[in-house]
Amino acid sequence: MGLDPEHESAWRQAAEAAIAYRQGIDARVQRPEAVYREALEAFDAPLADAGQPPDAGQPPDAVVRDLIARAEPGLSGTTGPRFFGWVIGASHPVGVAADWLTSAWGQNAGNHVAAPAAAAAETIAARWLLDLLGLPAEASVGFVTGATMANVVGLAAARGEVLRRAGWDVEADGLFGAPPIAVLIGDDAHATVFSALQFLGLGHARVVRVATTAQGAMDADAFEAALADCSGPIIVVTQAGQINTGAFDPHQRIVPLAHARGAWVHVDGAFGLWARACPARAHLGTGIDAADSWATDGHKWLQTPYDCGYAIVRDAEAHRRAMTVAASYLPPVAEGERDPSHTVPELSRRARGFATWAMIRHLGRRGIADMVERHCRLARRMAGALAADPRVAVLNEVVLNQVIVRFGDDDDLTLRVIRRIQEDGTCFAGGANWRGRWVMRLSVIGATTEADADISVAAIRRALDAA
Ligand SMILES: Cc1ncc(COP(=O)(O)O)c(C=O)c1O
Repeated sequence: MGLDPEHESAWRQAAEAAIAYRQGIDARVQRPEAVYREALEAFDAPLADAGQPPDAGQPPDAVVRDLIARAEPGLSGTTGPRFFGWVIGASHPVGVAADWLTSAWGQNAGNHVAAPAAAAAETIAARWLLDLLGLPAEASVGFVTGATMANVVGLAAARGEVLRRAGWDVEADGLFGAPPIAVLIGDDAHATVFSALQFLGLGHARVVRVATTAQGAMDADAFEAALADCSGPIIVVTQAGQINTGAFDPHQRIVPLAHARGAWVHVDGAFGLWARACPARAHLGTGIDAADSWATDGHKWLQTPYDCGYAIVRDAEAHRRAMTVAASYLPPVAEGERDPSHTVPELSRRARGFATWAMIRHLGRRGIADMVERHCRLARRMAGALAADPRVAVLNEVVLNQVIVRFGDDDDLTLRVIRRIQEDGTCFAGGANWRGRWVMRLSVIGATTEADADISVAAIRRALDAA
């Protein structure tokens, strides 16, 4: 028998609990009821030896029941309709269904002999992604855990290729003694790009930080001047969708200037790249397709469950050189076939292509465009309604799905409103420091409707009244 009855029963219990959870998500407070410390206690107690693994095992049903009971209070409303914290997609039910199957099928997407269906789903999903995002059809796509790793992969390919052109084989010889690489990056780039540079030995502090506009986009004149001062191999890191404002770097100017100097251009478009899949927003990303590599997420605007990001590299050879893995026991790949393990840092890994394939199949080109536009429209609606209150200042041009607001003049009031809105739980919004002052951030990227947007604005106003 393939599946033991007690395992089957545990699966059914898990599915029923998952369904009940998602059925109740609208009514649930959008913040977790338990904070981390309480969740920690819930997971530890009441085992006799707190902090030690249990001595005796538990039957499958009991484990699932126990897991649900301990986890539920500490679950955050990320899949709910009024969750505007960070930039968090809503794990769409169709993506979740594909993800359940991915776990149940237990495929190792490391190579296409071990897991032909997983590799094929990736190949086709990759083709669809390039088409939807308007990127070169010849580009190669790695299915990674998220945009952070997509940035690592894109920048690893960039590092290898600009050094190869300078006569240095970084994959073989490392960075010791290599020609120095100049890295140019906007001052308002996302923190994870600096992490990626750090992981790759390029350093997060030795970069040339290019001045940005009030909206956080790279200033093209400042970029041109900074580029003129560079010599040797150059990598330029641009951004599509600033985390606070949604602003895009001016790719039409930056990419040709960079290419004229032989630089590699990597675009961090964790969520913003999806504007290119939406005709009404695509103008924001003009010129992006001329870049050399791109990082984006499935688990943000495509609504796949975590972990799902895409590292896209125009030069498939450079991508492969940066990520390649070879061992005699691993099956060789036929000429011209895509080998999943040559596109990502890991060998054994989750078959991420299934959920991506399912989400694109479900939403279709039109559904994705409509969803992106709906989120942008709702962001403008919320910004407009908040700005109507004289005590509220909307600080960004709402070009995408991101809104930042301040309440009154002092940071304390803004921080108090954020605290109150989180305590209230009607909706969830976080804070950030923008240009030296605290702001409330609203990222509209989930299951929000117009009614949810209005309920949330009313809750924010109430929080302001009470703060
Ligand atoms: C612009 C940008 N880049 C990179 C990232 C990192 O993405 P992930 O958290 O999927 O690794 C984010 C996350 O919000 C982002 O907004």
